[in-house]
Amino acid sequence: MLDVFTLATLESAATGAKPARLAVLGCPVSHSASPQLHQPALDADGIPATYIRLEVLPGELALAFAKMRELGFIGCNVTVPHKFEAMDCCDEISDQAKILGAVNTVVFGESGSRGYNTDGPGIRQAIQEAFGMELGKTHTLILGAGGGAGQAIATQCALEKPAVLTLVNRSLEKITALARRLESISPETEIHVLSFDDPQLRERCHSARLLIQTTSIGLKKSDPPVISDDCFLPDHCAYDTIYQPVETPFLASAKRAGCRTDNGLSLLIHQGAIAYQHWFPGSDPLPHMRAAMR
Ligand code: ATR
Repeated sequence: MLDVFTLATLESAATGAKPARLAVLGCPVSHSASPQLHQPALDADGIPATYIRLEVLPGELALAFAKMRELGFIGCNVTVPHKFEAMDCCDEISDQAKILGAVNTVVFGESGSRGYNTDGPGIRQAIQEAFGMELGKTHTLILGAGGGAGQAIATQCALEKPAVLTLVNRSLEKITALARRLESISPETEIHVLSFDDPQLRERCHSARLLIQTTSIGLKKSDPPVISDDCFLPDHCAYDTIYQPVETPFLASAKRAGCRTDNGLSLLIHQGAIAYQHWFPGSDPLPHMRAAMR
């Protein structure tokens, strides 16, 4: 099997004893860990199918869906940059995906394709598991709330209706618009919006209990910390959506301050397990996925 398929080579993957029946669609997609996550669960469940990476160019998602359906695919995951385009390419969209404004999981059913978003419920479960915290009962501060991941997490927080939610982003326009949408989801939540250079950032961090880092800062070893050390308090819980490297400068600062920390591997696993259960209702892929990613 190739590491990455394209629409031109897809048909060759869909035959044989273990034909491709699931895929992650992205551009680029070679870095995606989704096959490592899903294949062990498929194998453990005795499902004779392969999960592949499929590189699809922006604008070609509808074509990719049509081709996959024709070849007998069960469904797919959708990653950057296709999560928004996927909204227009599904026949039906779950209420949750509509509210979150993005689709990351698709089921090809008899009546058409149905889009879901498992990032929102995935972060809820990851935070619950890592820190025993409920998003609805916690003041969460999201760093990079204007990005794709940050917006999904902020929206999930609003759905859980916390008393206070703080959104931080480099550019304010994105989170000002986001805050207006979140206000309509949860009018009772007090939403604070600020940029990284706001003099109140440290104080806002101190008043939160959970800090979630969703920017791309930290992906490179040479990246600086996204916020300064004095923003952390020992009773903070700090979560970084990045899982490679395992410890970003954000998590290293949090640890030095005595905070409890976790990285995005738990989000990857939980969103994946929920996606798998959309394809195979009643299944329990979590133990296999955890073992595979350990
Ligand atoms: P996405 O496709 O999810 O939007 P992205 O462009 O990597 O991905 O941006 C993710 C988040 O990281 C955004 O909140 C982005 O801030 P902007 O909305 O202002 O662009 C943030 N981000 C990326 N690089 C950053 C940097 N050097 N400083 C601060 N924030 C940064």
